[in-house]
Amino acid sequence: MNEKLTVRDIINFKKQGRKIVMITAYDYAFARLVDQAGVDIVLVGDSASMVMMGYKDTRFVKLSEMITFSKSVSRGVERALVVGDMPFMSFQVSKREAVRNAGRMVKEGMVDAVKLEGGRECEETVKAIVQAGIPVMGHIGLTPQSAAMNTGFRLTAKSAEDAIKIVEDARALERAGAFAIVAEYVTAEVAEYIANHISIPLIGIGSGPGCDGQVLVLHDLLGLYDKSPPFSKKYVDLAQTVIDAVSRYKSEVLEGLFPSEEYTKHMKKEEHEEFLARVGKLG
Ligand code: KIV
Repeated sequence: MNEKLTVRDIINFKKQGRKIVMITAYDYAFARLVDQAGVDIVLVGDSASMVMMGYKDTRFVKLSEMITFSKSVSRGVERALVVGDMPFMSFQVSKREAVRNAGRMVKEGMVDAVKLEGGRECEETVKAIVQAGIPVMGHIGLTPQSAAMNTGFRLTAKSAEDAIKIVEDARALERAGAFAIVAEYVTAEVAEYIANHISIPLIGIGSGPGCDGQVLVLHDLLGLYDKSPPFSKKYVDLAQTVIDAVSRYKSEVLEGLFPSEEYTKHMKKEEHEEFLARVGKLG
């Protein structure tokens, strides 16, 4: 296993022109697998609210639940940088609360860094968390936690005016000391412009190939979630694989084929005979 990646390594990948690969995970088993596949960053996304907990959007997962997911992922990852999402209302109320909650993600969730949604309006909050010694990843463009306030779940930076605001969001986060920024559902031209004009990595999701790296939600990539956004690519239909396997298990149990001899352990013959003799005496 290669050495554990640091925030510095992630920034250096951009300098070297090496694309950064990020994916979400929420539990120990999948965290181990994505780490073994060699991704650079594992994000414990607040998408857990939807793909792990079945809520309609990301706003319902609690800080305590994000800490539990993060802890499980952190224990499964050896090489990748683990980033934990700050859930809705864990950083918006005050800088003080944001720093305290980011600290809980690190101390209890064992993440290497935190991510929070927002641009210019978060500059001071990001600065405060970074000053506390916690690396921060920003998130601009479509920000699902505040989608109800903004344009909803739509492509962003379609107009020049909107594009300028998103460029300013990226600059504010860079100024605040963020080590990387996720750009979600931003027009490809604007994402590429930002990637070329900031010193920290811009990691895209639905934002075209001009970003410094890409991130996908694991359940979308594996075909385990039925409400995936239009920009995510399904690399495998694991849902069907799971249904097929569990259906075979069901049939084998109903037909008495499972467990077969291969999965069955027996007593020694003498022990069995003694057992029958003794149990018979018990009546
Ligand atoms: O919560 C999440 O999974 C995310 C990704 C979409 C980047 O923030």
